[in-house]
Amino acid sequence: MCGIVGAVAQRDVADILVEGLRRLEYRGYDSAGVAIINNDNELQRVRRLGKVQELADAVNNNPLSGGTGIAHTRWATHGVPSEENAHPHISSNNIAVVHNGIIENHQELKNLLIEQGYVFTSQTDTEVIAHLVDHLLKTEASLLAAVQKACKQFIGAYGTVIMDRRDPERLVVARSGSPLVIGYGLGENFLASDMMALLPVTRKFAFLEEGDVAEITRFEVNIFDKKGNAVERDATEAQVSHDAGDKGEYRHYMLKEIYEQPTAIRNTLENRIIDNQINTEAFAGDGVNADQILKDIDHVQIIACGTSYHSGMVARYWLEQYAGVSCNIEIASEFRYRKSFVPKNALLVTISQSGETADTLAALRLGKELGYASSLTICNVPGSSLVRESDMAFMTKAGAEIGVASTKAFTTQLVGLMMMTIAIGKNKGMTPELQQELVQSLMSLPAKIDEVLALAKDIEALAEDFADKHHSLFLGRGDQYPIAMEGALKLKEISYIHAEAYAAGELKHGPLALIDADMPVIVVAPNNDLIEKLKSNVEEVRARGGLMYVFADTDAKFASDDTMKVIQVPHCDEAIAPIVYTLPLQLLSYYVAIIKGTDVDQPRNLAKSVTVE
Ligand code: M6R
Repeated sequence: MCGIVGAVAQRDVADILVEGLRRLEYRGYDSAGVAIINNDNELQRVRRLGKVQELADAVNNNPLSGGTGIAHTRWATHGVPSEENAHPHISSNNIAVVHNGIIENHQELKNLLIEQGYVFTSQTDTEVIAHLVDHLLKTEASLLAAVQKACKQFIGAYGTVIMDRRDPERLVVARSGSPLVIGYGLGENFLASDMMALLPVTRKFAFLEEGDVAEITRFEVNIFDKKGNAVERDATEAQVSHDAGDKGEYRHYMLKEIYEQPTAIRNTLENRIIDNQINTEAFAGDGVNADQILKDIDHVQIIACGTSYHSGMVARYWLEQYAGVSCNIEIASEFRYRKSFVPKNALLVTISQSGETADTLAALRLGKELGYASSLTICNVPGSSLVRESDMAFMTKAGAEIGVASTKAFTTQLVGLMMMTIAIGKNKGMTPELQQELVQSLMSLPAKIDEVLALAKDIEALAEDFADKHHSLFLGRGDQYPIAMEGALKLKEISYIHAEAYAAGELKHGPLALIDADMPVIVVAPNNDLIEKLKSNVEEVRARGGLMYVFADTDAKFASDDTMKVIQVPHCDEAIAPIVYTLPLQLLSYYVAIIKGTDVDQPRNLAKSVTVE
């Protein structure tokens, strides 16, 4: 949430900072700003309401010179999106600050600073950082010391970067709850909230740990842990490709990412299946025996948010049906604030694309205190907080996902969760035949998904019917119920059409009252054991004058008529049907959003990585 870029270099850094913001814009995009110290040691600041392009135009029209600077793209928490609330915030015309996260005790600090004569010009919590550091610099010997002291007073989450025009070749950064990465250059150094921002200038990165404060100059990076001890953080070479942030031939990142799914799944499977067996090294962690842990567990507790929560819901069906292991799934923001019971030998599984979702991370930390036998994260971002703090990590190999609406991260999570199901089931009586069958189903996925993607034109035509609709209902049964939920989330998120999902059997317990010709009903109907039950639910809708859009297995014998449009989905194995049926729903929401003219990749009010609770 929000994006930060900073640089200390000999060359002018304005273009590096603005390009970095462009690459981070998916994290927040309601306003953006940059501050640079020029050669006369003056602070120059430009801020604009709206997208990074507004800022880029302003900087183009009035170029900024100088080699030390910080920049920010904002997702508003405290204070409306506006130029005055945009970062960087400045104190006494000396200190400039950018910040991700929330300073929860900002009001208390603000009152104290007002007593000291500081005047606040924004409604943000961030401005207290600038004034507090300025205030502390009256007694502290260095910017580093002032920031370290200030951090002790903050309650909440922050990734923050501070610069002082009187000490023009230095940035001080602090991390507590919001990720920051340092990028090493030759005679220049950088930092950002996500390494994607810095790929055009460096590939060598070190992640700050919780509580770290670091000072960065052109030639040195000095890192101190939460106790103030000097520490080293390992620097690694990024494996992500430089152009991961480009749309290529596609109109939107979301569409590109939908079409990348066969490759993303292939990459996620690669080298992880040997002789029809899951290679448990795929779940490895430092100093832990993944094989043994997966053997020993008797219960799985899954925690996640949003789309990742939906993949966890599917996994519950799989774990209980195929592996014979009990499983609970809960939304992270609920789990973290209630007293829960920890069964014996329970594995805590977190699922996250970003690995930085604040609620999921907090739930993992709580789970460790509660005494889960072990923790595993299914995650797409190497080096992210969830990966570093979990005992084991299964990395989905979806590649960078830029569109706010999660697509390829979801389907690769499901691939990882099915592999986990097989790896656990193997020791719980799953027959070798079933293991082999499930593995073969997984292997058939990329080709199957290519077949579904070939339906895009038909789905685009269907989307026309939704242009004037305000509400919609998604129905599924069994492991397709979470897929209906995911379809509804996708549609509401990018087309702003109100969408609800129900387990189809639940229809008659209330939602049936909503059915009329203005409420399209979308049904996912693979040819499984529940198909006849689902057909009865379809009849209930038909009898109330509802209009249906059914994504049905070619063998399920649905036919289009006046009340129902059927898209025939190629037949697939039952086990992988939740993954296969996700694709048409992703395409449907994409094309509806195109018709509605919304900002597909950066839908209103949302941000890609939710690092605040
Ligand atoms: O990075 P995470 O998977 O932890 O993110 C969780 C949710 O914020 C995320 O899935 C969100 O719901 C997506 N925008 C859905 O498309």
